[in-house]
Amino acid sequence: MKFFIDTADLTEIRDATAMGLIDGVTTNPSLVARTGRKYLDVVREICEIVDGPISAEVLGTDYDGMMAEAHDWAKVHKNIVVKLPLTLEGLRATKTCSKEGIATNVTLCFSVNQALLAAKAGASFISPFVGRLDDISEDGMNLIQDIVTVYQNYDFRTQVLVASVRHPIHVAKAALLGADVCTIPYKVIEQLAKHPLTDAGLAKFIEDSKKIPR
Ligand code: G3P
Repeated sequence: MKFFIDTADLTEIRDATAMGLIDGVTTNPSLVARTGRKYLDVVREICEIVDGPISAEVLGTDYDGMMAEAHDWAKVHKNIVVKLPLTLEGLRATKTCSKEGIATNVTLCFSVNQALLAAKAGASFISPFVGRLDDISEDGMNLIQDIVTVYQNYDFRTQVLVASVRHPIHVAKAALLGADVCTIPYKVIEQLAKHPLTDAGLAKFIEDSKKIPR
């Protein structure tokens, strides 16, 4: 399973890249707004740090506007993946991008039917938001299981990119379900390696190592 980092924070991206764990980056307008910087400047800098798919989201909602932004993003760097919302206009733009060879990540997916439409439109990636489903007492990982099944049933090439990840269990379940990618906030990446028994065991080893004759 590929690990993308879900942030526009360059420090987090540099730190996670240094760990050797990152295969790509996903951004969205909310994440970029937190940086206080222009979207284009942030994405250009990310492209210099991470050699993998970099999702940059369109801000328009109509087909012509989204296509204009998609063409602009595609010129920025070969690794750019254009993020489009799961609306009828967004799906129409996804279809056109697919025909033109522009990689796409269809975002804000919350149902199997939405994921089915994105795959039929030729999306490169689909982003089901599992955390936001959990937030309203649904089970986001059930959606991932259903999408993986439907995509396998019809041999769709669209990659399942688990998004809106809130904790390590989302990551583990995404891998168990066979998702292609999980996009993970920096703090969750840090949590993945932590276990109290590892810490206690290492402390004991260090303590006992002092008894070894040198
Ligand atoms: O990539 C989508 C992700 O950033 C949304 O996460 O926590 O805002 O639901 P969240």
